[in-house]
Amino acid sequence: MRLPGGLSLRPWEMSDAPAVREAFAEPGMERQADAPVVTVSDAGQWVGRRQEQWSRGAAFAFAVADATGTALGGVAVSDLDPRHATGWVSYWTGSAARGRGAATLGCRALADWCFAELELFRLELGHRTDNPASCRVALASGFVAEGLQRRKLVYDGIRYDVETHARLATDPAP
Ligand SMILES: CC(C)(COP(=O)(O)OP(=O)(O)OC[C@H]1O[C@@H](n2cnc3c(N)ncnc32)[C@H](O)[C@@H]1OP(=O)(O)O)[C@@H](O)C(=O)NCCC(=O)NCCS
Repeated sequence: MRLPGGLSLRPWEMSDAPAVREAFAEPGMERQADAPVVTVSDAGQWVGRRQEQWSRGAAFAFAVADATGTALGGVAVSDLDPRHATGWVSYWTGSAARGRGAATLGCRALADWCFAELELFRLELGHRTDNPASCRVALASGFVAEGLQRRKLVYDGIRYDVETHARLATDPAP
């Protein structure tokens, strides 16, 4: 899928492993991965799990790539509930790629794809309230803030509030 600014959205490929390893090496990024990603081999396994989830229809993770095809980050929909046509959206970008709209453009395109291809009705996401950049991405991608989950997450003994957002298939395009 072509995005503005020469970006594109595509499924993860094994050749993305070095870029994935580099992104997850950044402090704080380890929480975005489902298992530690330290080596390029770990990153290859991370890509392999994304491909396996895609093949089962359990989750759909895309790389947001630049004009050269290099992965700048990822957007994904998971926790699909076909009964209610809902899904959970997440996103991240490597630190060198931030502030260029990659997460926002990727998230908007992912939402459009989820409504058109998966026929989902409601997409949900949540971010810690001390993550204003993630809130900006959510709002700019058409995800309306819905509420506060008090002290939902605990990291290193500290509990964090989470703000939830959702975008409906019937919401206006951002
Ligand atoms: C959150 C994250 C995905 C944003 O990625 P990105 O590629 O920089 O996103 P974009 O460039 O599309 O948009 C970032 C927005 O946040 C804003 N922003 C960045 N840092 C900010 C800060 N400290 N305070 C307020 N706004 C901030 C930018 O100005 C921009 O908003 P704008 O378009 O209105 O100017 C990225 O920082 C990241 O991967 N962080 C670590 C993982 C993470 O937190 N993922 C989300 C979990 S809920």
